[in-house]
Amino acid sequence: MNNIEIYRTADGSIGLYDKKLNEIYHSKFGAKTEAFEKFIKPALLLNDRNVDILDICYGIGYNTKCALENFNQINSIDCVEIDEDLAKKSFEFEYDNKINQIIKSNLCKPDFINFYFDDIRRVIKSLNKKYDVIFHDGFAPYKQPELWSEELISEIAKHLKSDGIYCTYNHSKPVLNALFKAGLCIGKTLQGGKISGTVASFDEKLIKSPFDKSEIELLNTKSAITYKDKNLSLNSESIIKNREEEVKTSKLETLSRAKKYMSKQENC
Ligand SMILES: C[S@@+](CC[C@H](N)C(=O)[O-])C[C@H]1O[C@@H](n2cnc3c(N)ncnc32)[C@H](O)[C@@H]1O
Repeated sequence: MNNIEIYRTADGSIGLYDKKLNEIYHSKFGAKTEAFEKFIKPALLLNDRNVDILDICYGIGYNTKCALENFNQINSIDCVEIDEDLAKKSFEFEYDNKINQIIKSNLCKPDFINFYFDDIRRVIKSLNKKYDVIFHDGFAPYKQPELWSEELISEIAKHLKSDGIYCTYNHSKPVLNALFKAGLCIGKTLQGGKISGTVASFDEKLIKSPFDKSEIELLNTKSAITYKDKNLSLNSESIIKNREEEVKTSKLETLSRAKKYMSKQENC
């Protein structure tokens, strides 16, 4: 907690900033709004069933707390967070008191919410169930590429039910490409008409705003080259360095050339 600063976000909810990593945990525009718009709302399509949820990168638990407020029936929530001290304090951070009490009692004595205080790369292999809803809320790929590698996303996809929904705030090309390579249909989360995140599912009917054909074609460019972490064990620096090398030597088109070519085709 020494590196962490607390600040108030634009919707009045509190957010965290990691000084050492120079990275925010929550959107400045609203931590609670972000949880609802990017993680809960797209998954509420499944609100007619009793859901099993996986919350990857639990932090102080906004996504789990917001799910508790909005889903009608929750069978289980499995939360994964490497920072045990932070997660164990999550019920102390300002939120609806009833919800914080549920978190507190499950931290003391897990009932339907389970906590895994370890690296998601180790935890994911030990989970032996599939989920209706998966939240994936890691720090940005340029800071923690290990949370967004093709191999980790492929493992995460193996834990998504065939009619489940995966949600993330991230919509960078390497992450979209990793989801696409995992066999998922991918779509946009929209907020005020603008893209604010990604939803993915094996069931295309669950994707309300799919990426169109040309956006998918752009995943076959250098900028969409995925982060690689074959044995789920590399450090951030190695993953970034290896990707830079792969981009340098790749024969794929650059994004700008591919876009130029596409607009020429459209004008013909
Ligand atoms: C963007 S914050 C998540 C915010 C969180 N969802 C919330 O509502 O507060 C990213 C979180 O990922 C955690 N994290 C970083 N590396 C991790 C790893 N390898 N496995 C699991 N959690 C990790 C960090 O400790 C941090 O709490």
